[in-house]
Amino acid sequence: MKLVKLIANLGYGSRKEVAWMFREGRITDADGDVLYADDKVEHAHIRIDGEPLDPPAGLVLMMNKPLGATCSRKDPGRVVYDLLPPRYRVREPALSTVGRLDRDTSGLLLFTDDGSLLHRIISPRAEVTKVYEAMLAQDLRGDEGELFAGGHMMLESETTPLAPAQLEVLGPRHARLTVTEGRYHQVRRMFAATGNHVESLHRVAMGSLTLEALSPGAWQPLDAADVARIFQGTATG
Ligand code: URA
Repeated sequence: MKLVKLIANLGYGSRKEVAWMFREGRITDADGDVLYADDKVEHAHIRIDGEPLDPPAGLVLMMNKPLGATCSRKDPGRVVYDLLPPRYRVREPALSTVGRLDRDTSGLLLFTDDGSLLHRIISPRAEVTKVYEAMLAQDLRGDEGELFAGGHMMLESETTPLAPAQLEVLGPRHARLTVTEGRYHQVRRMFAATGNHVESLHRVAMGSLTLEALSPGAWQPLDAADVARIFQGTATG
């Protein structure tokens, strides 16, 4: 792909603007030598104003989603895309969240511009595990683990039962829940069906990928080994 198109697709500017960036000498190689629009250079060697170019298409990011941000692009309030550099909003192919977390849920959120990877992760057939920690308004009753694991639980206004989910009790009002589906408000609705209320919800892992030391609002690109971790232990892993 021509350099102007490559750089414009990464959201640095229109093709016309990027052509000007070449003219202004802002685009160089790793040694600081000015590049020209028709040069042939590897992505990793390109610098803009001395900074490495954003990762190419096929990008996967992990964010520790903070509370209060929505996963929508259009919401007039605070959205997760605001935490990325503005040019990430206009990259081509477009970067999307892999599924969604509620505004009031924090934790591990993936983004990708790879549509087939996105579908592989969210497909119920892949059975990618999503691990949540929930703080509850009331003490656990004691039978939730059995109920969630049974594979017969029906959520209100749904027509198919939930796949079995694993509950680990961490305290009287503190639980870790591992699910393989991504139904609307699933974890909150599961606890609501037991007469409880989720006061706070945090996603700690997808497959064996965890947030490690990412602080709320921070994000990082993932490499192929990280992406493989998402599928570890699943039907397609
Ligand atoms: N389940 C929920 O209820 N909310 C989320 O954000 C994710 C899973």
